[in-house]
Amino acid sequence: MTTKPATETEVPTREADRVIIFDTTLRDGEQCPGATMTYEEKLEVADMLDAMGVDVIEAGFPIASEGDFEAVSAIAKRIKNATVAGLARAINADIDRAGEAVRTARRGRIHTFVSTSPIHLQHQMKKSEEEVLEIITATVSRARNLVEDVEWSAMDATRTPIDYLCRCVELAIKAGATTINLPDTVGYATPDEYAAMFRAMIERVPNADKAIFSTHCHNDLGLAVANSLAALGAGARQVESTINGIGERAGNAALEEVVMAIRTRHDVLPYRTNIDTTMLSRASKLVSSVTNFPVQYNKAIVGRNAFAHESGIHQDGVLKHQRTYEIMTPESVGVAKTSLVMGKHSGRNAFRTKLRELGYELGENAFEDAFNRFKALADRKKHVYDEDIEALVDHSIAHAHDRMKVAALQVIAGTMGPQSATLTLDIEGKSQTVQASGNGPVDATFNAIKMLVPHTAKLDLYQVHAVTEGTDAQAEVSVRLEEEGRLVTGRGADTDTLVASAKAYLAALNKLMVKRQKLAQAQQAV
Ligand code: KIV
Ligand code: ZN
Repeated sequence: MTTKPATETEVPTREADRVIIFDTTLRDGEQCPGATMTYEEKLEVADMLDAMGVDVIEAGFPIASEGDFEAVSAIAKRIKNATVAGLARAINADIDRAGEAVRTARRGRIHTFVSTSPIHLQHQMKKSEEEVLEIITATVSRARNLVEDVEWSAMDATRTPIDYLCRCVELAIKAGATTINLPDTVGYATPDEYAAMFRAMIERVPNADKAIFSTHCHNDLGLAVANSLAALGAGARQVESTINGIGERAGNAALEEVVMAIRTRHDVLPYRTNIDTTMLSRASKLVSSVTNFPVQYNKAIVGRNAFAHESGIHQDGVLKHQRTYEIMTPESVGVAKTSLVMGKHSGRNAFRTKLRELGYELGENAFEDAFNRFKALADRKKHVYDEDIEALVDHSIAHAHDRMKVAALQVIAGTMGPQSATLTLDIEGKSQTVQASGNGPVDATFNAIKMLVPHTAKLDLYQVHAVTEGTDAQAEVSVRLEEEGRLVTGRGADTDTLVASAKAYLAALNKLMVKRQKLAQAQQAV
């Protein structure tokens, strides 16, 4: 084990040591159940990724729906620095659609993939190895005729025999692929195995020097980040990852973990990335807020306990010398030290300064909306902490385009029963009020919403947690609804748990409406 602190070793500067960070939050991340984002939310996340220095943004799967196509096209048009990629199966229509979606990008990429493992070939694709080789040549060439930058992925690479994988990779490079991605699609590999696969490809494929090798790891065994880092040691120079590690099943390698591991341990991981790490915390909060996926408290780098020292021995050590128990500073990932305490006497100027400190740049309308909500909160709560402001602003951003909003709620609760709720909703600018009873105040509130917005969705999850400490803390409620196999989640924050519950339920319903609308549009188009 090294005893020399990484801070005393030089950050590598050679171009060969630079790791390309490919973010797939908007594609693989959005694929996880309930994490759907609206068009506006996708643009916001893409802007954040570009600002923080992500090299490649996988913006979506253009053939999947009209909505996906529109989002990828809009992201391609607006992104200033990053390459914008669109995903395509090994099907001509997919490739053409992806090419069209990234056409206007300053740097556009088609990312096409096909399965290569025997289990996928036999049971899913029902194709022979030779047929898949022909497909690789045909589809990569087609993509290369549309754009200069083509990435090819061998789906389920880690369960593919090495000799056959070598043949696939060689053909993909020959047909014009400039990046070769070898995913651990099912999260099965261990770090040594994953690294060995890359080493074999780079040593054995004759034209391997003509492409950049890329990692794409799923976290089924909790090894996604370890596997990604191990592959770098074997020559990979692109890492595919997502903010907060969201993605299919147990998720993908978490971008913030990969980046901070490289930054903190460049003595043993001699690479660098272009990421402005001080934006990691904001990016995590934004993604958590728009997907309604809470970040677990003890999540590495961005969890709220990641820099909290609870034990007396640790606190004593950190106070004497920060590095005794802290391997990276909270500031390095954008966790700001509180300098301004906010309360009901704070004015616009202080609020604007605080927002800047927390990493928000809001337009005039969004600022006014956030300021009014802050004032309302400060009237009810003595100390307004940074987390309160973040919850409040994130909520404003996430729900700026909602068609239905909670206008007023009055609930009768307690032991005397029956519990009832009188609810006023603002539905597309019109105010409507109902009264409903229920088995408890939350049930009564949700029944009132059902009366105003009839639907058949079932409540799949209801979760409450406090944003800060104290009995006047804001409650943050997450709700998941299920309708005909479609899952949507909504989140709401308020000092009143029932108001937060109504907001969360309505946020999920708003998303469901958008989904229904998209489905209807897609059906009309067929
Ligand atoms: O996990 C996977 O194999 C993928 C591919 C589409 C790249 O996400
Ligand atoms: Zn994946």
